[in-house]
Amino acid sequence: MKIEDRDRRVLAFYEQVLEIEQRLIPTGLHTFGRSNRSGEITELLTLVASFDRPELEIPALTELISQGLGLPSYAQLLKESDSSELRLIERERVEKLTRETISRLLSSGKNGGDEVALWINQQAGVSVPLALKSFNLLTRIRQHLQSNQELDGLVRALTGEYLPPGPGGDILQNPSILPTGRNTHAINPYAIPSTLAMRRAEPLTRALLQRYQDEWKKVPESIAMVLWGIDNIKKEGEAVAQVLWLLGVQPLRDGLNRVTDIEAVPLERLGRPRIDVVMTVSGIFRDLFATTMDLLDRAVKCVASLDEPYDMNFVRKHVEEYMRETGCSFQEAATRVFSNAAGNYGTNVNFLVLQSQWENAGELGDLFVRRKCFAYGRDSEGRLLEGLEAQKLLDGALSRVEVSYQNIDSTEVGISDVDHYFEYLGGVTKAVEKRAGKRPQVYLSDTLTPNAKIRTLQETLQLETRTKVLNPKWYEGMLRHGFSGVAEIEHQLTNTFGWSATADAVDDWIYDEVAETFVLDGQMLDRLKALNPHSVQSLVGRLLEAAGRGFWSAKPEVLDQLREAFTGLEDALEGVNS
Ligand code: BEZ
Ligand code: MG
Repeated sequence: MKIEDRDRRVLAFYEQVLEIEQRLIPTGLHTFGRSNRSGEITELLTLVASFDRPELEIPALTELISQGLGLPSYAQLLKESDSSELRLIERERVEKLTRETISRLLSSGKNGGDEVALWINQQAGVSVPLALKSFNLLTRIRQHLQSNQELDGLVRALTGEYLPPGPGGDILQNPSILPTGRNTHAINPYAIPSTLAMRRAEPLTRALLQRYQDEWKKVPESIAMVLWGIDNIKKEGEAVAQVLWLLGVQPLRDGLNRVTDIEAVPLERLGRPRIDVVMTVSGIFRDLFATTMDLLDRAVKCVASLDEPYDMNFVRKHVEEYMRETGCSFQEAATRVFSNAAGNYGTNVNFLVLQSQWENAGELGDLFVRRKCFAYGRDSEGRLLEGLEAQKLLDGALSRVEVSYQNIDSTEVGISDVDHYFEYLGGVTKAVEKRAGKRPQVYLSDTLTPNAKIRTLQETLQLETRTKVLNPKWYEGMLRHGFSGVAEIEHQLTNTFGWSATADAVDDWIYDEVAETFVLDGQMLDRLKALNPHSVQSLVGRLLEAAGRGFWSAKPEVLDQLREAFTGLEDALEGVNS
């Protein structure tokens, strides 16, 4: 190996380690009414401080420090594409100073901000007034995190008293969700997607297309995208904005900032083809964003009727091809907004997986389609469709898909924390696999750090596994909660298993190391057993199922040990030998 290649690999490896180390993870469950611990507050504030707050005109502290030091912008330093040792050293210098600034701020007294501002001015040339602006925000957040009015709020609500309202969401995206314990409200659905969401979505969609292009040397013609309600509440419709960018349209607003219509971005400005997007929408999104459903339908139909060449407008290409193949109407061929039947929710793919009630994987994708094949939008007479059964249309649209894609919604809920990511993104992936005859590329976007990133499903699972279920900081945090902590560990494994079932995306080492950490280590097994024998038994059973279904090539001696542990747990639960 050439020396430069070796150095490049070492740097890439080092960056991966940094990514794992710096990932913000929940270190325990939230206890209602309890404020955050100081270690958590430092980590959280450090991450909060690395985001720009354009709405408050406060630049990220990391940017202020980079600029003050005369370095390239921090966003530039985070870019993997131009990795070099010097860049990494510069990045670490900025991060170290940011952390040091936050800890000084946290340990300083009431008016200590002035001193810390002078300090960072001397260290890195950061303007004192700008530093103070940033510190004011951070101090406010810290005060809210250190106190907690949730129990008070609950009692007031239960006694029918007035509870002040406050927005819901993710603290990194929107620190004004604090203090918690208020009457949580969502957002104004008519203002979706916000201008900020459009601004943030543009580079992300570019990155998504680039990622596919790097691997496949072409642009994907069609993308299946999952849209969730809560994600779009937290990020003011960023996923909706991504759909609009993929199609190459932008929202038009009225004087009250309501999105009333869309217009096509000219191809010369877009600089790439318009991508076909098949939307599978959660029941929650459908209920919360009725006008957005209509807007998305209009956007697809507007793009499909533009007089543009097929190689620059895949929506038109696919719609016209489908009309020729099937003789159906334009409105039908251009149906791309799908959800459950009115009043129905979920895909049920998760239940089938959790209860091991499936034989061949195709069943999971078929169930997804049966649950999600209801069309929304308008018919050719302009009447609103509120969940018209349209399985053939969804089958047809999915048969052209090359990429399936979803956003991760917050640092608290990742793709192996809940069963909903695999039921949706996994479900649609499995459905595409059968209908297109090929598994799509599966991507997730992660906007939880300042360098928003597109990762493959495998990469995301690897990162989540390393930072959560295999990370002592995570599992010991969970085990402090006793019974429910063990249940959380089991959920992580089961949800990971869901990605085997729907997308065959789990590496052997993940199962190997989960088995080693929680079952083959006798001391750990005893601890778990004492806290919650039911969940450990499910965990061992799920590992055996992974091997039995061919998702994991486990060593025979490991399987023997797992079987033995399973029987031991069964006996203990049934009271044998006790
Ligand atoms: C949502 O729309 O936000 C959602 C749907 C299903 C599961 C979880 C979240
Ligand atoms: Mg495998």
